[in-house]
Amino acid sequence: MADRPAPQSQQGTLKLAEVSINFAPVLAELQAACFETAWGQDAFARLLALPGHRAWLVMGDDQPLGYALFQLVADEGELLSIAVQPQVRGQGLGAWLLQETLEICKACGIRRIILDVSVDNLPARALYDRFAFNQVGIRKNYYNTSYGAKADALVLAREEIA
Ligand SMILES: CC(C)(COP(=O)(O)OP(=O)(O)OC[C@H]1O[C@@H](n2cnc3c(N)ncnc32)[C@H](O)[C@@H]1OP(=O)(O)O)[C@@H](O)C(=O)NCCC(=O)NCCS
Repeated sequence: MADRPAPQSQQGTLKLAEVSINFAPVLAELQAACFETAWGQDAFARLLALPGHRAWLVMGDDQPLGYALFQLVADEGELLSIAVQPQVRGQGLGAWLLQETLEICKACGIRRIILDVSVDNLPARALYDRFAFNQVGIRKNYYNTSYGAKADALVLAREEIA
């Protein structure tokens, strides 16, 4: 499907698969390992029960390594959450996951993707820069931070995806 090969991984052959509501506990556990605040498995289950909410999981050596969750409505998608396990970051996995899922979105008729990212989240901002997302808005004081202050969310969009 993608022209970007799966990255060489110390976790064996990587597999990407769409997952259903049954994987809410797996997604919640992954998210908790990747973010300071996590939604919990009930929230994932509620989201995946809603129309247009779709999640993909990256597995390596039968271990969950990363996920991406989108809301797809008509020809627009929102990337609600994406993450890679801390111990396997910086190996190209996040870029591969994003490339693959954007291509799937395109094949589903999605033309535009939007997302929010904290102004403080430099790795994620670099990832989205690499994929030609552009800033289209800002939500002031949107995120809580570990240092007590609030951080702005940048609203990014990518037109004509993949
Ligand atoms: C953002 C995230 C998914 C990137 O995953 P990853 O597997 O480490 O990313 P990759 O190795 O594929 O790197 C992709 C690009 O991101 C950038 N990047 C990755 N880690 C970076 C870091 N620590 N600092 C700066 N840029 C970084 C680079 O530009 C890289 O492109 P390059 O290889 O051409 O230089 C990962 O850091 C993560 O899960 N973070 C916590 C969850 C999160 O913040 N999600 C996004 C919420 S909006």
